[in-house]
Amino acid sequence: MSNRGPVISMVFAAAFLTGCSGVQRVTPVQIWDDMKHQQKFKAQAPVDGIFADGRSNRLVPEDTVARGHFRDDSPYNTGMDGAMYVGKMPVPVTLDLIKQGQAKFNIYCTPCHDQTGMGHGIVPTRVPAWQPSNLTEQRLVEAADGDLFNVITNGRRTMPPYRFQIVTEDRWAIIAYVRALQRAAHAKPEEVPAGTQIAGLN
Ligand code: HEC
Repeated sequence: MSNRGPVISMVFAAAFLTGCSGVQRVTPVQIWDDMKHQQKFKAQAPVDGIFADGRSNRLVPEDTVARGHFRDDSPYNTGMDGAMYVGKMPVPVTLDLIKQGQAKFNIYCTPCHDQTGMGHGIVPTRVPAWQPSNLTEQRLVEAADGDLFNVITNGRRTMPPYRFQIVTEDRWAIIAYVRALQRAAHAKPEEVPAGTQIAGLN
């Protein structure tokens, strides 16, 4: 009997240590039932006892726009001038804008259109039904800036819309960069500024 004491304490110690260091697979005992358990309302879901109309939150008051979210029907926001696409983008094209467009193009457009804009991204290799246009083809070189803006904003045929992913400013930046890609695709070797040519590629 007398030598059982240390054995029992070792068993307890082992149980204690595994309890602390091991991954817990059972739900831990909640001593203070605090913030882990609280009521949650889903947006516009029915709930009793909060508002008279039974909603969990309020509807946006009619004819109001959140601060900073007002968009008028200007060419900048729509790419349209009346019923026509705007020919030239309503923001000045700077090197910074083109670089901003390059960054966003490489994120949002290359999966389908590839980094040169030719349309050989990874998506069409997996989804043969989606054949992205070659953005450097003559038809799109001639397309109005507002036309491209509308393609990005609203999508077209199998091309998905990107108005929720890409803010207006970045859409214009992307168009500036697409213009640069088109210019590059149709440039002649002698148009490349001296000193920036890569030997063997010309
Ligand atoms: C998920 C794939 C996908 C992504 C991402 C994508 N596109 Fe497209 N895009 C397409 C497909 C597919 C078409 C061909 C649409 C058709 O003709 O059915 C297309 C067509 C176009 C066209 C030509 C539309 C016309 O008038 O024929 C433009 C311009 C274009 N895309 C620009 C862009 C830009 C800019 C981006 C990035 C913001 C982008 N696309 C991202 C799939 C994509």
